[in-house]
Amino acid sequence: MQTFQIATIPGDGIGPEVVAEGVKVLDAVSALDGSFAFDYTEFPWGCEYYLREGEMMPADGIERLSGFDAIFLGAVGYPGVPDHVSLRDLLLRIRHDFDQYVNVRPVRLLKGAPCPLAGVDAADIDMTFIRENSEGEYAGSGAWLYRGTPREVVIQDGVFSRHGTERIIRYAFELARREGKSVTSISKGNALNYSMVFWDQVFEEVASEYPDVETHSYLVDAASMLMVRDPGRFEVVVTSNLFGDILTDLGAAIAGGMGLAAGANLNPERAFPSMFEPIHGSAPDIAGRGIANPLAMVWSASQLLDHVGQGAWARLVLGAIERVLVDGTCLTPDLGGSASTAEVGDAVVKAIQAMHAEGEIG
Ligand code: NAD
Ligand code: IPM
Ligand code: MN
Repeated sequence: MQTFQIATIPGDGIGPEVVAEGVKVLDAVSALDGSFAFDYTEFPWGCEYYLREGEMMPADGIERLSGFDAIFLGAVGYPGVPDHVSLRDLLLRIRHDFDQYVNVRPVRLLKGAPCPLAGVDAADIDMTFIRENSEGEYAGSGAWLYRGTPREVVIQDGVFSRHGTERIIRYAFELARREGKSVTSISKGNALNYSMVFWDQVFEEVASEYPDVETHSYLVDAASMLMVRDPGRFEVVVTSNLFGDILTDLGAAIAGGMGLAAGANLNPERAFPSMFEPIHGSAPDIAGRGIANPLAMVWSASQLLDHVGQGAWARLVLGAIERVLVDGTCLTPDLGGSASTAEVGDAVVKAIQAMHAEGEIG
């Protein structure tokens, strides 16, 4: 029996509510398979911890996470703790210190999921965003001079290294080549005359190594319009940290909503653990009511399964999410239903068990 060591960080707001359902699904899968299991260690870090302890995680937090096979995180951030403290000291710290430089965010309209776009073929919403996740606009470099005086000056640097830019673009090309898809770069060279001109140049250089892969390049403003008007033209998409953050919330909006948007923060070299988390936040407006949609977290669990070498189960879990969506009788309020978070988790488990019994895997 192979046992995967998973660090869970339920975090804030709806984080704990959705992590519980993700764990439920992972356990259902391992029980059906029988050849592997998950062993969880929960870390109670987040905003409540901060208010008690004065820090988002202990000083040796990163070290304590470093031995795990994967990190399963709910959400971080809550009113009462400034976002730039809570996120920088926990979520962004983990992404950065574990060099999780690839943020894979599927924007795929699953069967049965609602789509607000008129005149768009639902099958055309099938993109994989490869968001640069280690530097760029999120590098945390800058200065605040003459603070609080009339001479106040604030500088926030965008940091684009050749190493960082090349590796994320190359990751996108490798993925596209494997899957027979095109790569689209999204940048803003017409205004950001250093960082994005450099990004475009590196994109062209790397593209020349992949003559078999079709490429497109759009400015971020036009790209956001095209994602709504003509999403079918996007397949593998590579973009910077901030643009990827913004465009994947737009992606969520056209592909079923925040409750369905999953993400994986990968260190492809596996020198450090990777982290699996939905792209939504702690949703303070609905936290504690048991109505958060757990499907984004469950999809992230599917990405985790893929990461630990259980690709067939990963696909089955995605299929089970689609079953629950198509069935339509057990959905949370964001998808027009009246089911609770736990009921939707249970429905996914039932769908997994049914698909397994039908011989889809095992
Ligand atoms: P949010 O994603 O938490 O919520 C945006 C809207 O989407 C809200 O109306 C919320 O109710 C809804 N929503 C989100 N997830 C949902 C789900 N699973 N089911 C049903 N509805 C869902 O974004 P926000 O309100 O801008 O941020 C809240 C806090 O979370 C802030 O502190 C922010 O910094 C933080 N945040 C954290 C992460 C993360 O941990 N990865 C991501 C985004 C925001
Ligand atoms: C996300 C979030 C984070 C980000 C925030 C909370 C720092 O919005 O994961 O999309 O911008 O990366
Ligand atoms: Mn975001």
